[in-house]
Amino acid sequence: MEIEKKIPTHVSIIMDGNGRWARERGNEREEGHKAGVETVREVLSEACRLGIKYLSLYAFSEENWGRPEKEVHALMALMLHCIKNETETMMKNGVRFRVLGNRKRLPVELNASIDELEATTAVNDNITLIIFLSYSGKWDILQAAKQIAKEMVKKQAADEEIDQIGIDDFSSYLVTAGVPDPDIILRTAGEQRISNYLLWQGAYSELIYTDVMWPDFDKDDFHAVLEEYAHRDRRFGKIK
Ligand code: IPE
Ligand code: IPE
Ligand code: MG
Repeated sequence: MEIEKKIPTHVSIIMDGNGRWARERGNEREEGHKAGVETVREVLSEACRLGIKYLSLYAFSEENWGRPEKEVHALMALMLHCIKNETETMMKNGVRFRVLGNRKRLPVELNASIDELEATTAVNDNITLIIFLSYSGKWDILQAAKQIAKEMVKKQAADEEIDQIGIDDFSSYLVTAGVPDPDIILRTAGEQRISNYLLWQGAYSELIYTDVMWPDFDKDDFHAVLEEYAHRDRRFGKIK
């Protein structure tokens, strides 16, 4: 199969459509988020099997804090529940777990269980699962810029030193430091926008959109995405 020839290193997904999926069935939006967790399990296990090294998932944006309190609360509770129950499976499958985003805004108990799971799974290297929580691309770039500014002020850096700051130096201050940029950014549920996701890191990602709602997304849909990627011609601004 074509996809086996061109397996991406990093697949990133904007998991969208949980709310609509639930409403279409006459259920509360929260039911859609719960159903979405099953999809995460399926996609993670397939990504692992195929030898994809990084799977990152946009689970909650900085803007999502603006949703009704009930939904935000349900999402945080779901996150906590998943994290508390997944240690064994992750250890068994060699999954390294990481959460990236504005951790300061997360509930204390959630932060503590994230720390624990990150520490326990740090030894694993089959695949890294990154959950973007309370994340936004503009926030990430801004927090990096602030860190650099503070360092430069502290050491009273000369103009020349500031001029020397390169793209890779800047990248090392983003929360994704050390993580290769995504080869694919996939968005489910029909919307074709980036919604403040990996603005810097996605500079050369292949954008793939599908109409399938996240809770309905399955292994075959995932294969179709990888197949589409395998046919893309990545030029990075150059001529082939
Ligand atoms: C994506 O599904 C998950 C989160 C943003 C938390 P949505 O909740 O955005 O579902 P729709 O887009 O309203 O259907
Ligand atoms: C993007 O989805 C964020 C996540 C999937 C976590 P949204 O549903 O929040 O995005 P918009 O509002 O449609 O742009
Ligand atoms: Mg949405």
